[in-house]
Formats: sequence, structure tokens, C-alpha cells
Amino acid sequence: MTDADQAPISAAISIDQDRLWRRHMEFGAIGGTPKGGVNRQAFSAEDATVRKRMVDWATAIDCTVSTDAIGNLFVRRAGTQDELPPIMTGSHLDSQPTGGKFDGAYGVLAGMEVLEALHHAGIETRASIEVVAWSNEEGGRFQPGAMGSAVFVGKMDAADLMQLRDGDGMLLTDALAQTLAATTNLPQRKRETPAAYIEAHIEQGPILEAANLQIGIVTDIQGMRQFRVEITGEEAHAGTTPVKSRRDALMSATDMIGALEAFMADAQDKVRFTVGRFETKPGSPNTIPSYVFFTVDLRHPDPATLIRLGDGVEAICQTHVRGCEVTVEELYHIAPTHFDPDIVAALRASAAALNLPNLDMISGAGHDAMYLATLCPAAMIFVPCEKGISHNESENAKPEDLAAGTKLLAHALVSLANNE
Ligand code: GLV
Ligand code: MN
Ligand code: MN
Repeated sequence: MTDADQAPISAAISIDQDRLWRRHMEFGAIGGTPKGGVNRQAFSAEDATVRKRMVDWATAIDCTVSTDAIGNLFVRRAGTQDELPPIMTGSHLDSQPTGGKFDGAYGVLAGMEVLEALHHAGIETRASIEVVAWSNEEGGRFQPGAMGSAVFVGKMDAADLMQLRDGDGMLLTDALAQTLAATTNLPQRKRETPAAYIEAHIEQGPILEAANLQIGIVTDIQGMRQFRVEITGEEAHAGTTPVKSRRDALMSATDMIGALEAFMADAQDKVRFTVGRFETKPGSPNTIPSYVFFTVDLRHPDPATLIRLGDGVEAICQTHVRGCEVTVEELYHIAPTHFDPDIVAALRASAAALNLPNLDMISGAGHDAMYLATLCPAAMIFVPCEKGISHNESENAKPEDLAAGTKLLAHALVSLANNE
């Protein structure tokens, strides 16, 4: 067996479970919450702190770091034939406002652990391996989410996003500038399309834990659409205004949401319909609300069903205006993703080589990989999380499961990077 044949296995056995876990605990403390979770929203001071740490780690193992117009952070380990397109991996370091330590951070830290393992074991690869922390995947602070990967693949324009504001009125361009100030002098990434992309992530659901398996190989991501609904009524006195003359934006909104929920009802329980944000103005107990804003998050694995249900949202809202005005804006529509069969096969082959039993899975959550899959062959690795709980401060995972997924990632990345 040649050194190159041996390299994927050598990389996998060089993964250091303790270092990987320590780094999760270190990042988990940056934006750490009293309940053991993380609040490290996109382009916050905490986001800046973890980016700075990434740059320190990268520099210590002779990797180069770059960024781009939306602040994606790229760590690149050169290959012996560096003109070859890179093999890319990554995920996100931003969290939900009440998020966990593993959603996103795992995929970035697993990628960094692969680079550490290669460096310390002195393993070279033909193509470079590049680890990315995509900006604002969660979309809790600035919508839409996954904007870093969307800009990277050309589905969104960074200049358009700069004028977005968060709930406190802060412009994205200002928040991004503050975040990037922590990692000054990073060069802009050279435009180079990756040859392949693999993202590792916690499952965020209960399937792997129930099956007592450490590895899921993700073949698909269900489609998703998101809408912003704004209702304008009229403020009036709560004590004096008769019902028939009210233009109550809140009563209109609750009617709309009830009707939407009925429309989305699904005996098979495949439709995912969520109103995750709801705001009302002026927010005084004795003034009839003149304004409501709410979001609709809709997901389904079947593209036709997603189109049919999503296309019904505006008409249902219009039916329940109750004298108010409503606008429905679609924030995004991402068709279901079918990952590349060759990358899925490469992951299965790596899992077999490492004796890691596994299961094919469809992701219910969205990931940066859905945008990368529009640019290059892509797929994902899932590892279990406790009770399937995620987007919750109690999110948890086991060190040995995180390490198993990282070994698989190392094997697959090195195999692809050394491919003839
Ligand atoms: C990402 O967290 C998603 O919305 O699925
Ligand atoms: Mn995530
Ligand atoms: Mn998430």
C-alpha cells in the first residue's frame, strides 16, 4: 500500500477526540447562557471572538485564512498540487438566540480537527482542504438565513443584504464591519470553485439515537420557504371603540394563522409549518393594535407540495384581513436538495473502511450544504444529539459520536483530495 492509499485511514486515526471536545466547550462558553446553551448570533461580538480564535488556530498549523464580501471565513491547508480545486468542508458558528453548543459549531470544529490531524501527523494531500465558517446561517437576527453560503454560490448578492436591519434597527453592513474588525487584514478569498463539499452536523432529530447509530449519511434536504407577513390596521381606544368599527391587526393576524394552520394540516405529519416570530405595535394593553408582523416557515420534502402550500399563503392572509391591509413577502424558496450520488457513495465507502455502521437520512433542517450543492458535488454527515433536541439551550451530544463523524469526515476529505 502506498502512502497515498494509507492517508485517509491515517487521517482518521489521527483525530483527537479530546481536542475536538475541548474546542466545543471553549466555543460553547463564548456567548454561553446560564442554561448551558449559546447566544452567539450572527455578526455579534461573540461571533467576532470565535472567528478570532479560528484565525489563531489556523495560523498555528500553517494554514492560510481569507474572507469575502459577506464575511465568510475560509481556512485553507495547501495541497501538493495546489492548482487543483479545493475540497471544502464547514458549517456555521452563529447560533439561535437560545441555541446549543453543537448546531453549526460542530461542522466547523470537525473541519478544523481534520486540519489539525493532518498537520500533526504530517499527512499531505494533493488538492487543498478548505474549512469554512459560513456567515449567518441561522437567520435569527438578520433574515434570510444561510446568507453566507447563498452569496458564495451566487444565489444572493452581498451588496443587497447590507441594507438589512436587525430587530434593534442595526444595519447588517455596520454589524459585519464590527465583526470583521476583530480579524483585520484578512485577504479576500481567491475565486475558486470547490471540487466537492461535505458538511458535518448534529442530526437535530431523534432517528440516529433511536437506531443506536453514530453516523447518518444525508442524501437529501427537504425544501423550505419563508414568508414575512405584515398587517396594518388602525390604533383606537380599547374601551370605547365598538367591534364593528375596529381595524384590529392582531385579531386579523390570529385569524390568518388559524386558517393557515388548518390549510397546512397533514395526516401524514410531513408538513412543517411554523410561525416563529410575531410582533405587535404599539404594544399597549388599552390600545387596539395597528400593526402585526409575523413569519411563516414552511418545509416539505416534495417540491410540488411545497409549491402548492406556499402559494396558498397570500390568498389565505387576504381572506382574513378584517378591514386591515396585509402584505406577504416571500423571503426565500429553496427547492428540496438531492445530494450528489458520487459524494454519498464516497461517504458510504469511507464509513465502510472505518467500520462505522450508518443510515441514509433526509434532513429536516436547512443547512449551508443546500446552497453548496447548487455549485459543486456535495453531501452531509450527521451524528446523533441527545433526544434529538436542537434550537434549544439543552442541546447535547457525546464526544465519541462527534469524533466518529469527524473520523469519517477526515477519511472522505482526504480520499477526495487525493483522487486521481
Ligand atoms: C436552520 O437552522 C434551519 O432553519 O433549518
Ligand atoms: Mn445548523
Ligand atoms: Mn440551526
